[in-house]
Amino acid sequence: MKFFADTAEIEDIKELAEAGLLDGVTTNPSLIHKSGRDFMEVTKEICGLVDGPVSAEVVALDHATMMKEAEVLRKIADNVCIKVPLTIDGLKTCKALTDDGTMVNVTLCFSANQALLAAKAGATFVSPFVGRHDDNGFDGMELIRDIRLIYDNYAFETEILVASVRHATHILESARIGADVATAPPKVIKGLVNHVLTDKGIEGFLADWAKTGQTII
Ligand code: E4P
Repeated sequence: MKFFADTAEIEDIKELAEAGLLDGVTTNPSLIHKSGRDFMEVTKEICGLVDGPVSAEVVALDHATMMKEAEVLRKIADNVCIKVPLTIDGLKTCKALTDDGTMVNVTLCFSANQALLAAKAGATFVSPFVGRHDDNGFDGMELIRDIRLIYDNYAFETEILVASVRHATHILESARIGADVATAPPKVIKGLVNHVLTDKGIEGFLADWAKTGQTII
């Protein structure tokens, strides 16, 4: 399963990339606002740090203006993936861009039927928001299971990009189901390394090593 970082924070992106944990990045207008950076400038910088897709979201609601915004965004770098909302205009934009060889991430997906539409429109990625789904009394992981089943039934190539990830269990369940990608805040990805027995093991080995009186360097 691929890991994308759901952030516009450069230091976090660099750290994950150095550890080989980064296959791409997703941003959205709220994350750009949080970063305090200029959208075009920070997106260009991120594209230079990651080999994989970097999602940059359009903000227009109509197809014609979405296409104009996408035209600007796709000039930033070859690895820009245009993010469009799951609306009819977003799907039209998705179809036009993917027909033209541009990667598209269809975002704000909250139902399996919406995901079916995104696949039919030729989306490169569909982003079901599991955390926000859970927050509203639904089962986010059930949504991922449904989309996996439907995409496999019809051999759709659209990748399931699990979004709005809040904790390690979302990632574990996504991997069990066979989702293609999980995009998560850097702290959630880094947190996957934590295990009490790893910490205890290191403590024990270091205590015994100290007793040998030896050094390696
Ligand atoms: C995905 O592409 C979105 O940027 C993101 O996962 C939204 O997450 P949130 O629900 O934590 O805002």
